[in-house]
Amino acid sequence: MIIAIDGPAASGKGTLARRIAAHYGLRHLDTGLTYRAVAAALLARGMPLGDEAVAIATARNLDLGHLDRELLSSHEIGEAASRIAVLPGLREELVRLQRAFASEPPGAVLDGRDIGTVVCPDAAVKLYATASPTERAKRRTAELLSKGKEADLETVLADLQRRDARDSSRSVAPLKPAEDAHLLDTSEMDIETAFKAAVDIVDSVRAA
Ligand code: DC
Repeated sequence: MIIAIDGPAASGKGTLARRIAAHYGLRHLDTGLTYRAVAAALLARGMPLGDEAVAIATARNLDLGHLDRELLSSHEIGEAASRIAVLPGLREELVRLQRAFASEPPGAVLDGRDIGTVVCPDAAVKLYATASPTERAKRRTAELLSKGKEADLETVLADLQRRDARDSSRSVAPLKPAEDAHLLDTSEMDIETAFKAAVDIVDSVRAA
């Protein structure tokens, strides 16, 4: 079974994906980390983010089993990931790796921007997590403050909206719900409520 979870930054899709994978005994891949890992490697070597050949070569050497969420979580890396995510050849390479991950038994939960539309269009269940920009900015700000980092709501909101705009407007695999995706607006939900709502959707699709 493959479950696809897409949505904008800070929509809660990552936490949902992890919990859903544990609940159904599936493996989990946060595909954002694959873009982040390539971006981090380019930044570390001082390479220009537009150098597609180097980005593709870096992607070929990625080990999906060793993507370090902590190391890749910075705002700078997220911003660089969103920039390199417009390169079609790089996307092709990363999608190949993501599909290989998804195809291994017993199946997997993948979260990202284009899982239901491009990476796994035949996924058994597709969820599209959303929340209002203000709510997402509040969550991201609280998360940063809890890690002892500086953050203010206005700046975080502006950053999120810029990233949403770039991710939604690119010509290759833009952020958008698949036609057969189930929308899950988590604006008014805590994570427990959102998780239960997601499980209800998955179970009802599987029972149908
Ligand atoms: O979900 P995230 O913040 O870790 O993603 C970082 C960037 O990677 C995001 O702004 C766009 C890109 N991305 C993508 O284009 N396609 C995906 N499936 C996942 C992430």
